[in-house]
Amino acid sequence: MSTAAGVEARLPIRSDMDLVWVRQHVRQAAARLGFGLVDQTKLVTAASELARNTLVHGGGGLMEASHVTTGGVDGLRLAFSDSGPGIPDLDRALSDGYTSGGGLGMGLGGARRLVHDFEVESVPESGTTVRVTSWVARPPRRREDV
Ligand SMILES: Nc1ncnc2c1ncn2[C@@H]1O[C@H](COP(=O)(O)OP(=O)(O)OP(=O)(O)O)[C@@H](O)[C@H]1O
Ligand SMILES: [Mg+2]
Repeated sequence: MSTAAGVEARLPIRSDMDLVWVRQHVRQAAARLGFGLVDQTKLVTAASELARNTLVHGGGGLMEASHVTTGGVDGLRLAFSDSGPGIPDLDRALSDGYTSGGGLGMGLGGARRLVHDFEVESVPESGTTVRVTSWVARPPRRREDV
């Protein structure tokens, strides 16, 4: 059983300093749920890009972190939401190199590749929610355990 206490959180994303708290929380929550160091870093990197998009493109918002389980496997779900302009063309936004600002245009597509599940809900003029989930990898069962 994992220790899920301290995983659930709602953190504001209003300033660069808030991005630091987001990264710190995701690192700690992932460690608590049993993610290895490499997988923690993947989640932190994805969260960092998505939180930065919430701040820069969405005009600020929040991240909600939750502990999810399926078939006895623990996962970490992160939802980034804002009430900004929305993403008019999601396919274009996800393609590498597309940016509406002065970025590299790698954040959204890069984040998608770093997590197991990725979904975007975006309504023009109303806002965007990006939900990502990753599951703790279990070591393969040894023959004598089967
Ligand atoms: N929360 C959001 N609200 C509105 N538009 C968004 C949001 N997130 C992403 N976008 C749009 O999707 C585009 C692609 O996002 P992506 O993170 O890939 O690139 P970027 O933020 O422009 O550059 P960077 O490589 O620095 O992240 C953005 O330029 C922006 O137009
Ligand atoms: Mg970005």
